[in-house]
Amino acid sequence: MTGNEIRQKYLDFFEGKRHKVIPPAPIVPLNDPTTLFTSSGMQQLVPYLKGEPHPMGTRLVDSQPCFRSEDIPEVGDNRHTTFFEMLGNWSLGDYFKKEQLPWFFEFVTQIVGLDPARLYVSVFEGSSAASRDDQSIQIWQELFKTTAPAASNSVGFDPQVKIYTYPAAKNWWSRVGVPEKMPVGEIGGPDSELFYDFGEGLKLHEQSAFKDQSCHINCDCGRFMEVSNSVFMEYVKLEDGSFRPLPAQNVDFGGGLERLAAAASGNPDVFTTDLFTPMIQTLVQVTHASYTSPDHQQAMRIIADHLKGSIFLIDGGVTPGNKTQGYFLRRLLRRVVLKLRSLTNQPLTPTAYRQLVDSVIQTYQPVYFANLKNTQTLTDTIVTESQKFEKTMAQGLRIIHKTPADQITGQFAFDLYQSFGFPLELTEEILAEPGFKVDKAAFKAEFTKHQERSRTASQGLFKSGLADHSDAIVKYHTTTHLLHQALRQVLGSHVQQMGSNITAERLRFDFKHPQKLTDEEKKKIETLINQKIQAYLPVHKTIEAQDQALKSGALAFFREKYPDQVSVYTIGHDVNKDWYSKEICGGPHVTSTGQIGAVKIEKETAVGAGVRRIYVVLAG
Ligand code: ALA
Repeated sequence: MTGNEIRQKYLDFFEGKRHKVIPPAPIVPLNDPTTLFTSSGMQQLVPYLKGEPHPMGTRLVDSQPCFRSEDIPEVGDNRHTTFFEMLGNWSLGDYFKKEQLPWFFEFVTQIVGLDPARLYVSVFEGSSAASRDDQSIQIWQELFKTTAPAASNSVGFDPQVKIYTYPAAKNWWSRVGVPEKMPVGEIGGPDSELFYDFGEGLKLHEQSAFKDQSCHINCDCGRFMEVSNSVFMEYVKLEDGSFRPLPAQNVDFGGGLERLAAAASGNPDVFTTDLFTPMIQTLVQVTHASYTSPDHQQAMRIIADHLKGSIFLIDGGVTPGNKTQGYFLRRLLRRVVLKLRSLTNQPLTPTAYRQLVDSVIQTYQPVYFANLKNTQTLTDTIVTESQKFEKTMAQGLRIIHKTPADQITGQFAFDLYQSFGFPLELTEEILAEPGFKVDKAAFKAEFTKHQERSRTASQGLFKSGLADHSDAIVKYHTTTHLLHQALRQVLGSHVQQMGSNITAERLRFDFKHPQKLTDEEKKKIETLINQKIQAYLPVHKTIEAQDQALKSGALAFFREKYPDQVSVYTIGHDVNKDWYSKEICGGPHVTSTGQIGAVKIEKETAVGAGVRRIYVVLAG
């Protein structure tokens, strides 16, 4: 069964168990400044796991595109990727262990067709936070009762033992890891993971770095692959460090789609599943490298993963930059360029990049890119960033290779960063091969010194000159309010904010509206905002009681919780009457709309049923 089929079968299976299919969250979370990327299906459900009722009920299922930046260095083996899809099903105080474990076992054995003899599980062994998960052990014992053991083998692994217990480091899940690391108010619980055994025949353990130790299901040799995790999300951390049961016992399940597809194919290499093959084939075509060659395979896996991740990030609104999400996108793309260079001496042509982008879009078209009109913007972003880096890369590499080992200092790494755009991690990677180490602390010290210098210089020199990033962000904040009001004025008061996101390059705004905006509507909205800018309307901040503010017509974002006293920003000549826009908001804002200059609507797309997304950029 292919990855694309498994995704659909999984959604169907849980719909059959009275789950509602919910749309995945954007890969860059909206209005969640605590995290840069969506890296787990449960992220969008945190308030509901804590007890708020979910509008779709107590049984939910989805497939969530995820990005884990911390896994960048791991990519290159058979199973690690930065981008992956997480199959997720949730019980919000509805069913619990005795339904979850048998259901998923049924799904993988009956629907996907995995041989139970190749399945193993892990369960929480207990700690001061919570006791051993005996209930899961009993359920698994029952499920494995009729499974014939696999053949014995030579690495000290007993195939008759199906259930393993591990401490919190392996079998406790929260967004930040083990119970000790969880901040007050964070939710978590014991979990049970399912592993697939690719078998003795592949000699994965014997050929790995772990060959001198006995193999076990959590061994990193690659023989066993963790394919899923059922988290029993039932605790919240208290101020005294102890745990209190949540209002309801929840299930938070996550399954790795690429890994399940690999298990279904019996090949432990996720890059040979249908979720990667069109891209790998295109890569072979455009570079003439060979995926089976040990000299090429690792680079091809890195390129395939990083390009796929980049495409999803760019589609999610990220542009390459030096900060936050943009920094990771830039790191991915620069690493792609570097790895491509190890396969072919020619820079890739824009047409070749386009073919690679198309191969990814094709793979996911009906599921995640149904509304994508064409791949030009995606390709352009990738090509522009790659070409920028290619220009300086060769020069930078020559310098690295010419520099004697004793001169590879933190200052040297910083110079490479500043002059050639080599992120520290990339320099470390290049230097790791000849066995050099970069002094990270010295790099960071140089970096901080430089930041200080630029800050001082920009205060002194550029005071009345070009806008810096923070200026742009403040302008976008105020533009968001003007946009919100203009949308309501032109389209109607049904327009409601569903999310917003601001970077130094643009603002993005999601709102309720049933259909695509016409060109005429877009023009009207843009003109209206620019008129309000040209009118140099003053922006006032007041502190008001929340209910008073709402009563007076102030807009608020329904997903946000506000304190009793709120700050309100009013745009218009008078705070009490004749105002144009009024919103509950933390700011910051410009003091007069005139400071914004001018704006342009860049594009408008759909993000879900009845929800539109609009991008606006500063134009003056
Ligand atoms: N939230 C769990 C995970 O990410 C399922 O592994």
